[in-house]
Amino acid sequence: MSTASGFLSPSAYGLPGERELAELAAAYFPEHGGGAAPGAGPLDSAPLPAPGRLDGAAGPEQGGASPRPAYRPSLVPAAKGAVPGTEAPEGAARYLADLTPAAPGPAPYVGGRPLDSVRADFPILSETVENGRRLVWLDNAATTQRPRQVIDRISHFYEHENSNVHRGAHTLAGRATDAYEGARSKIARFIGAPGPENIVFVRGTTEGLNLVAQGFLKPLLRPGDEIILTELEHHANIVPWQMVAAETGALIRVAPVDGTGQIMLREYAALFGPSTRFVSATHVSNALGTVTPIGEIISIAHSRGVAVCVDGAQSVSHMPLDVSALDADFFAFSGHKIYGPTGIGVLYGKREALEAAMPYQGGGNMIADVSFERTLYQAAPQKFEAGTGNIADAVGLGAAIDYVSAIGMDAIASYEQALLAYAADELSRVPGLRLIGSAVSRASVLSFVLEGHETGQVGRYLSGMGIAVRAGHHCAQPILRRFGLEETVRPSFAFYNTAGEAELLAKALRGLAR
Ligand code: ALA
Repeated sequence: MSTASGFLSPSAYGLPGERELAELAAAYFPEHGGGAAPGAGPLDSAPLPAPGRLDGAAGPEQGGASPRPAYRPSLVPAAKGAVPGTEAPEGAARYLADLTPAAPGPAPYVGGRPLDSVRADFPILSETVENGRRLVWLDNAATTQRPRQVIDRISHFYEHENSNVHRGAHTLAGRATDAYEGARSKIARFIGAPGPENIVFVRGTTEGLNLVAQGFLKPLLRPGDEIILTELEHHANIVPWQMVAAETGALIRVAPVDGTGQIMLREYAALFGPSTRFVSATHVSNALGTVTPIGEIISIAHSRGVAVCVDGAQSVSHMPLDVSALDADFFAFSGHKIYGPTGIGVLYGKREALEAAMPYQGGGNMIADVSFERTLYQAAPQKFEAGTGNIADAVGLGAAIDYVSAIGMDAIASYEQALLAYAADELSRVPGLRLIGSAVSRASVLSFVLEGHETGQVGRYLSGMGIAVRAGHHCAQPILRRFGLEETVRPSFAFYNTAGEAELLAKALRGLAR
């Protein structure tokens, strides 16, 4: 229920706001006046539960009796070129070349290694699929394949290290804890986080975004507050915010994209007002491949004192990352999109932002002390890791990080950019094929429709040739509808894909087009 002004009304989600949240909002946003929300019920007069403890005393991470710290990013002037006018793209976009000109195929080397030897690390790339065809995996935006190094690391864990972590003074508990915490440290270094305490293990991007929505943002919201998203978001970066908006009476505002599929920074900046509380934006669109000017998006929000969560699901495997340089308040990604296991992912948060967030789930591991009268929580990140985590897969993710680090993220980005330009050029010469999204900065994804053919039909036809692509709405219906479509066909590339595979895709499509 979007209106011309870009608002989505809370009634669109069907739920009233939770009245007790008004008091928390007043505590963290004094400019709300510290009063109860209109229509607030009896809970509004109850004393605030002191953060960190159920009995009203502060937990150890809060430093005694002081209240849970409110979190807001430091006010900084917007970066040069960030504010509308919109000069040359900076931030993440600087890694990426213009895809427009036809490009020669990339040399078959990545990070100095011959592509054949890199591909040999991925056993599944030798798999035979339909009609006896060798697999051509072009569904990397949905999930990537795993190298032998990751598969072996997980087996090694179960054969030699398996134990629960953080408890039990025996040899295997020590090995498992070292492996698990070692993975956390590797991930911190890989994304440029200050340290392992900034890294929360979660199930994946979706859980990371839900954690921020429920644990950080919801307690701060009151009716009429606004959350800014962009038109490019996939459902995982829309629905969690709609849920907290519905529960609190907050509103969603949406930054539009232009005809190329790029976020319009001037219009984005114009959405900010006194009620803006939070921004969540993608770094790379899963449906179009657009690399957003995330540095500018963050800079503009921070110049208004608003914190930003970045959905890194589609960027983490395609470009070097430095969350500290980007100044992201939160950054979420999934292990399986970066050659690691499913069921494990990462939420990065600035220390103050994680301290300000409430635990998302309660249970073992996240507590410092429990009695029936009150509970003391651990500090972040343990505060957010209730119960036994996905230990083996966290270790597997650490191995995936080692793997891509050995090749080098700069080398991966530069090979993939050349391959994407080559594939875009090949596809542009298929009769009746229309590429959707033409932003100057793109990564991995080419989205298209083929005249006279339904997307599902194209997907099935390609599967018969051994080529795996995604055909459908890609869990990103709003952005496809922005382009007047319900579905596209979406090949998505990784560093183990070859120019020959891109050619085969184009050849198959030319056959279908005829
Ligand atoms: N978000 C994933 C995709 O784009 C599942 O396919």
